[in-house]
Amino acid sequence: MSLLQSLGLRRAPARPALARDFHCHLLPGVDDGMRTLDEAREAIAGLRRLGYRGGVLTPHIYPGVYDNDAAGLRAAFAEFRSQIGEDYALWLAAEYHVTDALFERIAEDDLLHVPLGDRRLVLVEFPSLMPAPRGIDALAALARAGYQPVLAHAERYRYLQTDPEPWLERIARHGTWVQCNIGSLAGLYGEGPRTFAQDLLARGLPVLWGTDLHRPRQIERYIAPGLDRLGGLGRLNAALDALEEADA
Ligand SMILES: [Fe+2]
Repeated sequence: MSLLQSLGLRRAPARPALARDFHCHLLPGVDDGMRTLDEAREAIAGLRRLGYRGGVLTPHIYPGVYDNDAAGLRAAFAEFRSQIGEDYALWLAAEYHVTDALFERIAEDDLLHVPLGDRRLVLVEFPSLMPAPRGIDALAALARAGYQPVLAHAERYRYLQTDPEPWLERIARHGTWVQCNIGSLAGLYGEGPRTFAQDLLARGLPVLWGTDLHRPRQIERYIAPGLDRLGGLGRLNAALDALEEADA
């Protein structure tokens, strides 16, 4: 019997060491994420309690749904960062939905991205229900243009869940990094994404894990228990350790 057991205490669940989040909707008032500065502050306080010390903001860019552009988001980000201060390191990227506009931005070499060494990380979101041949085209175009494509919440796409092998092969063909949502492991999006996230984890495929946080209440309900299932990773998002705060 261990000392903890003999004292009648349960061992705390193992969690990975945390530093930086990748994928969240903290920037207030620009998409379906945080609605106010107060809500964003509450979320950051909750993330800090979990152990996060910073994160990459990824507001939606989805013409006709979230009509954001790089210039507007950069301005909103500069204001937000001045309001948050230095307690939480922030970087700005975006979550690009696959549309004609994305291909135009790639052609113009004008994408919100995270510089990481000699890589330029761009987060791309596929449609959730319908197969997206153009999604693979977007990954290929990004790679050709010298970007590092990152596929957002790979576990959430139904067509990947039902037919993973060919899709994962197509995605890997362009050197795409797979990103998964921590909350998926705790059932935030239902059973399909939960089991597929576990499958991707078992395959060792996710390079990055994100909170994809939209509301502060998701932290205790889904992110904390999701992290309890990631203890085997040791350190979460180690790839982001090379992010330089001076570049933020
Ligand atoms: Fe997102």
